[in-house]
This record gives sequence, C-alpha cells and structure tokens, in this order.
Amino acid sequence: MLDEKELIYSALEARKSAYAPYSHFKVGAALLCKDGLIFRGCNVENSSYGATNCAERTAFFKAVSEDEREFEAIAIVGALENTEPTEYAYPCGICRQVMSEFCHDDFKVIVARSIDDYKIYTLGELLPASFGGDSIK
Ligand code: THU
Repeated sequence: MLDEKELIYSALEARKSAYAPYSHFKVGAALLCKDGLIFRGCNVENSSYGATNCAERTAFFKAVSEDEREFEAIAIVGALENTEPTEYAYPCGICRQVMSEFCHDDFKVIVARSIDDYKIYTLGELLPASFGGDSIK
C-alpha cells in the first residue's frame, strides 16, 4: 500500500547518492512496486552530458532488471547540492516516456519539497496522449 511519506523519505535518502559533478543538481527517486518493494535511484551524470541518467530512470532500470514489472508510484526530490529542496522537481520528458512503457495512466507521480510538502499527479496528467507499444503494432 502506498505510504507517501515513506516513499518521499526513500527518495530523500536516494538523493544523497546522486553523482552530479557537472550540474550540481542532485535528484533522488523512490519507486514503489505493486509487490511492496521500493527501488531507489539517483541521477548519475557523465562528462559526455548526454550519457547522464536521471534518478527516475535509474530507479526504473534497477527495478525492471530485478524482474519487477508492475508499479504503483514514484516519489521524486531534487535540488542543488548542499541545499534542501525548495521547488518541486518534475520528471523530464524522457523519464515520463520510460514510465509510460511500464505504467498505466493511474500510476502516481509524487513530487516533494519535503516529507510534509508534496503534490501527487497521475502519469496520465503528466504525459497525455502518449506514444506507446500499441502504436507500432
Ligand atoms: N534530472 C533527473 O535526475 N531527473 C529529471 O527528471 C530531470 C533532471 C537530473 C539530470 C541531471 O543530472 C540534473 O538533473 C540536471 O539536469
């Protein structure tokens, strides 16, 4: 069952592992699977900037590579290093597309500034009229 605060706490913990020597913007994500497991992810930057992986995709790829296929929610926190989040960190377009590969429209995306300050969206709200596998059958 979804415990928003627990998921945000996991995202804040994940953010501590972020590798962001170029942007100095550290992001943490925590992905709740339908079986109750939580996978954490952080952004992992690269000197060839395009090779950077976002926190959300790190969490998804960790989970999918461990055979998880059904997901309930993800919490995301982001801010410049050595600062606490003051803004909500929304998932980028590529991460929304990766979410849509594995999740339905009712998948919950929680953007948080702290454990007590968060907003919940559905993936359908953040990525309407998406391109999916059905489009290429
Ligand atoms: N970033 C994420 O981790 N998730 C997003 O959805 C947006 C951006 C990271 C990538 C890069 O390391 C840093 O934030 C600045 O763009």
